Amino acid sequence: MAKENCALCQDTGWILEDVEGRPLAKRCQCYVKRQNQILFEQANIPRRYQECTLDNFKPLNASHRDAVKIAKKLITNYPVQESGLLLQGPCGVGKTHLAVAIIRDLIWNKNVPCYFYDFRQLMRDLQNSYSSESPMTESEVLAPVFNKKVMVLDELGAKRTTPWVEETIFYIINHRYNNKQLTIFTTNYLDRQEDEEEEQREVWSRKKMYEQKQEESLENRIGVRLHSRVHEMCKIVNVEGKDFRKTALQASFR
Ligand SMILES: Nc1ncnc2c1ncn2[C@@H]1O[C@H](COP(=O)(O)OP(=O)(O)O)[C@@H](O)[C@H]1O
Ligand SMILES: [Mg+2]
Ligand SMILES: [Zn+2]
Repeated sequence: MAKENCALCQDTGWILEDVEGRPLAKRCQCYVKRQNQILFEQANIPRRYQECTLDNFKPLNASHRDAVKIAKKLITNYPVQESGLLLQGPCGVGKTHLAVAIIRDLIWNKNVPCYFYDFRQLMRDLQNSYSSESPMTESEVLAPVFNKKVMVLDELGAKRTTPWVEETIFYIINHRYNNKQLTIFTTNYLDRQEDEEEEQREVWSRKKMYEQKQEESLENRIGVRLHSRVHEMCKIVNVEGKDFRKTALQASFR
């Protein structure tokens, strides 16, 4: 006979606990761990980010410290907290890291079914699902998006929306909002207000002028209606700093 792996439950997945003198059946910790491993594997977190946690996120400035505080509060309060997060800031400041850290924690410590989707990938998967050769139907693509308790939608606005895309995303996030399912968005695009404030500063190096021209507001990218909905359902978290990939990660090669 195969040797048992769990000495606590002899691999039955159940243990008996003494509650006020009576035995009460309870799930064994080995079972819970296995279930969480399955949740983690189903969460679609990209390899590169699978090890991201709040513990290995280095708070390098005040915005990082605030972001970590907000992330921890969300995890502690879950499922009571109803507003999601919009992690907003430039490239490489750790937005995706933080978003993954949150769902990773919720999976392992609160057994919450979570899902990660890159915005462009979701658009692509939806568009492909309409072709007759597609291995996945639209409802198969949308199933986790509608069902998972917490979702990360990474890089919102990274692909310019068409009216069709806008409508689909609106439909998705509206459904999630109405069902009290949290969504954590990240985006490189800023809100118009901040763009205007920056414009008012007027002092621009040539390079900055160029970058500014390239830059659009999030509202422009995803449309007024969707933008306003995201604001309504999320707490805005500004993450600032230098591109971590260029600074810290490069330094580690030296
Ligand atoms: N403060 C930080 N501490 C530790 N690692 C970080 C930090 N900021 C970024 N990283 C790492 O740098 C890389 C880029 O971060 P990422 O989250 O992809 O940035 P963004 O999503 O804002 O573009 C990732 O490998 C991430 O784990
Ligand atoms: Mg990112
Ligand atoms: Zn066990």
